[in-house]
Amino acid sequence: MKNVTVGEFIVETQNTFPGSSGELSKILSAIKLASKIVSHHINKAGLAKDILGSAGRDNVQGEDQQKLDVFANDTFINALSARGVICGVASEENDSYIAFDDKVNNDAKYVVLMDPLDGSSNIDVNVSVGTIFSVFRRISKQGSKVELADFLQAGDQQVAAGYLIYGSSTMLVYTTGTGVNGFTFDPGIGVFFLSHPDMKIPEDGKIYSVNEGNLAHFKQPVKEFIKFCQSEDTSNQKEPYSSRYIGSLVADFHRNLIKGGIYMYPSTKKSPNGKLRLTYECSPLAFLIEQANGRAISESGRIMDIVPSELHERVPYFVGSKNMVDQLEQMMHREDWKFQEKN
Ligand code: AHG
Ligand code: MN
Ligand code: MN
Repeated sequence: MKNVTVGEFIVETQNTFPGSSGELSKILSAIKLASKIVSHHINKAGLAKDILGSAGRDNVQGEDQQKLDVFANDTFINALSARGVICGVASEENDSYIAFDDKVNNDAKYVVLMDPLDGSSNIDVNVSVGTIFSVFRRISKQGSKVELADFLQAGDQQVAAGYLIYGSSTMLVYTTGTGVNGFTFDPGIGVFFLSHPDMKIPEDGKIYSVNEGNLAHFKQPVKEFIKFCQSEDTSNQKEPYSSRYIGSLVADFHRNLIKGGIYMYPSTKKSPNGKLRLTYECSPLAFLIEQANGRAISESGRIMDIVPSELHERVPYFVGSKNMVDQLEQMMHREDWKFQEKN
């Protein structure tokens, strides 16, 4: 089989869009470059000073920023601003969006939203982490400074989304709305090769991923669904599903995408909106999963339909194999179980 690099793939697919200006390709290329730098840096964690541990400050969401959060954030922002192909970026690690307010960038038509380092709490223990990104066409006028409204669009409006997983190998998985493709990084030559063409999540899965330590605080339908996952029903040949939870959304998502399964970060009594961020985490992975034949919902319905009201908004999140999400959704809508606070 011919080895296709991500660069070649981007150019080939770009040519299928009539009138394409190549800007999206340049954004993907900037992401590719930044990810190589971050991947290289992560691989040195434990050896080099100044990689592991806390940066000694909190982000706007009150979370302890890790040195690698800051490094990844700076690296992606620098790569994206240098190309002159986006007018601004919003990151989980910044209080507000950043406007690249100069002539070249103001003329650009896209914005990027990102979680530069997902799974921060796993960095120090050598467990997979990732980067999640999302690209939108701006709604404000080209040539002007980017505005908040450009970043607060429903997931449905995304033109591209993807993630990097820095795992046993580094992979780039992305969509531009015509399916999902995965590329594996060959560190020897510094190139991503197409390794997972046209990824589809199995319709049914046998893995459920949730932080079960929070079980007592979940609402009843979610508890009932977890009970179902654990149950055995010989008449239907239903065996208990496997519980798999890494604690890095990207890594849990990636495994479930390949094997089939459901990932859940439900609301709890303490966190009524769950933990995950709509714009940086939930929406991009929702776009990917839908392109791979799966589903992503919140308690209120389809993730991709939600219009964010603020940058760092959180939502309860359920994503994965279609039939598993369907089943959970049916349980959510059972009148007698409807989000009662009963434990
Ligand atoms: P981040 O490191 O970007 O803040 O994201 C952490 C998220 C996500 O990656 C993961 O699935 C989830 O937090 C884990 O949360 P719990 O430790 O509460 O299970
Ligand atoms: Mn994250
Ligand atoms: Mn993060």
